[in-house]
Amino acid sequence: MPPAMGWYDFFARFYDSSVEKLYVGAREAACEALELRPGQTVLDLPCGTGQAFEGLVAGVGDEGAVLGLDLSAGMLHKAHARVEAHGWSQVFLGQADVHAVDAAMLAELRGAPVVIDSLHVFLGLSAFPRWEEAFEHLWGLLRPGGRAVVLDSHAAHPSFQGRMVNLVAQAQIQRETWVPLQRLAEGFERRELPSLPQHGGTLVLASGRKGGA
Ligand SMILES: C[S@@+](CC[C@H](N)C(=O)[O-])C[C@H]1O[C@@H](n2cnc3c(N)ncnc32)[C@H](O)[C@@H]1O
Repeated sequence: MPPAMGWYDFFARFYDSSVEKLYVGAREAACEALELRPGQTVLDLPCGTGQAFEGLVAGVGDEGAVLGLDLSAGMLHKAHARVEAHGWSQVFLGQADVHAVDAAMLAELRGAPVVIDSLHVFLGLSAFPRWEEAFEHLWGLLRPGGRAVVLDSHAAHPSFQGRMVNLVAQAQIQRETWVPLQRLAEGFERRELPSLPQHGGTLVLASGRKGGA
């Protein structure tokens, strides 16, 4: 288990109270960019405490599935509580390192073979140690024609606030997190979203589709 996980387990205790209100608009924009359809399956990794679930569930409907994975047991504990409170039977949660996720694991989680229609990577690539490799791995799980969205904060030269975000979130917001998607996707789009000082940098939303459908 990477050393940062102990921190994320602790961070989970105050993650929702400190972070949730800062990303409401960005989460809506990310969901919209995924262009989810009822009945689809979306992989949300890392899912953290499940702050994106409401929008993702609304997108895939009762017949679809939201697969939420994260490495932190503390984050997942909160995510489970959120799912239970809402009674979302289409959300399936699992603990895994991003690099270890595979089709068999997802099928076991879902209780049936899984086709990933959409990939939602929100505040993940700034946090994963081997982030480019992690994204390429996730991309490999996406079906041909599937859609991916990457959202992260970016500052080439972080200010004091940016450095605080890096410290508190165990992140590296200097990374150009959209680049792997840009390299792999068809119809790649990138735009900046309204950002707050607490984001530490500019929120960047990137989206694109996997070719070969
Ligand atoms: C800043 S949080 C973002 C969580 C969520 N996506 C959100 O938007 O609220 C970063 C998350 O990445 C998870 N994480 C870090 N390294 C990971 C890894 N190697 N595999 C899976 N999850 C990881 C952490 O546990 C944490 O929940």
